[in-house]
Amino acid sequence: MGDKSVLVIGGGGREHSLCIELSNSPLVAEVHCCPGNAGTRQIATNHNVSVSDIKSIVSLAKRLDVDLVVVGPEGPLCQGLADDLSKLEIPCFGPTSKLANLEGSKLYAKEIMSKVGVPTASYHILSEGSDIDLALDEFSDNPWVVKRDVLAGGKGVVVTSDRSEAKDFIEQSITSDGKVLLEQFLPGEEASMLVVMDGSGFVCLPASQDHKRAYDGDNGPNTGGMGAYCPAPVVTLEVKDKVIKTIIQPMHDYLSSLSTPYRGVLYVGLMITESGVPNVVEFNVRFGDPECQITLPLIKSDVYEILHSASTDKLSSLVVEFYAKHSLTVVLAAEGYPSNPVKGRIINGLTEEELTHAWINHAGTSLNDNGEIISTGGRVLSCSATGDSLEEAAKRAYQLLETIALDGSHYRTDIGHRAL
Ligand code: AMP
Ligand code: GLY
Repeated sequence: MGDKSVLVIGGGGREHSLCIELSNSPLVAEVHCCPGNAGTRQIATNHNVSVSDIKSIVSLAKRLDVDLVVVGPEGPLCQGLADDLSKLEIPCFGPTSKLANLEGSKLYAKEIMSKVGVPTASYHILSEGSDIDLALDEFSDNPWVVKRDVLAGGKGVVVTSDRSEAKDFIEQSITSDGKVLLEQFLPGEEASMLVVMDGSGFVCLPASQDHKRAYDGDNGPNTGGMGAYCPAPVVTLEVKDKVIKTIIQPMHDYLSSLSTPYRGVLYVGLMITESGVPNVVEFNVRFGDPECQITLPLIKSDVYEILHSASTDKLSSLVVEFYAKHSLTVVLAAEGYPSNPVKGRIINGLTEEELTHAWINHAGTSLNDNGEIISTGGRVLSCSATGDSLEEAAKRAYQLLETIALDGSHYRTDIGHRAL
């Protein structure tokens, strides 16, 4: 067994997945997680520290004398966690607050894309006194895409064919944030590419596809993600080459040239046109959730080594290998999710038994006073699996899901439908 210790920040399915991979690394002796969940508790030491309490996280990292901090969510990065850890020379997987703006500010992301020539939708910035109707007229051939310029926890974007809905959202956003983006609608199919990068190089992980709508057939309200699979066939080798050439390489050229380069994972949200041309829809400065849960298990190389190298500008010295397998995860959501999730219900049927090729990623779970696992969030857990084909992975994930009982819960039955 190795002697490294790692602190993972966050308490969702993504962080459980990071804890699983890190605790499986022969280099790692200890995994800590704050605040964690009932799943991370089985393989890591949970610490009752909130992800927004940067000061306490830094003290914890110092006290535990960890070799690496891996940041799950964007919030602490935007608040400057990586900046504070770097002052103490503690390696941090996740960018500085300035670069976290690639997710925190849609306008900053647009400015960088325009500076380095990355393909993305054209846009207007609207503020007090702007002619909103004129701008709406310009993009009236397609649905309108309105984006707030703040971190809005997945509620910052409205895509609508209803002009008055678009106009209302523009006006409300100007009132609350001072400005808003109105963006050209991009038709096509979405995919996510997670790119681990540092000052020395980058590694593209296999592309995946999330399912953001709550119900089957991509209906219902937007969610954090109801399931995902990997690799996504829409990203053919040809498309991947274009993504690297037109998006990743120019972004990396810029991000690695800065005095403090980007260190972490850049989540590139893509819209791929029918003719295979990729455009950037969004950047996130973290692993996607649930994309993380099905991407990390396809990495054959040591995950600790990859994350630590990317935190210390040594990525280019690694050769990262992947399994030629498929993976899929299905999220079990609480009754009422996404608008008003019911929490505090007991989850039955969670097996401790080791299953071949299928496992549970805990998300909104914790233990009650009787030691029973209860739901504490909207996305409660997800069932994940790998297989030699996507069909096989889907079958295994759904079989596992059917053994779990949570009153009122719901899940999508069509994860992977675009590829299956
Ligand atoms: P974002 O938070 O920027 O990822 O936007 C949320 C969702 O809105 C995306 O996953 C897309 O489904 C959709 N979206 C965002 N921008 C566009 C666009 N320019 N054209 C079409 N759909 C978009
Ligand atoms: N699953 C989408 C996200 O993590 O932003």
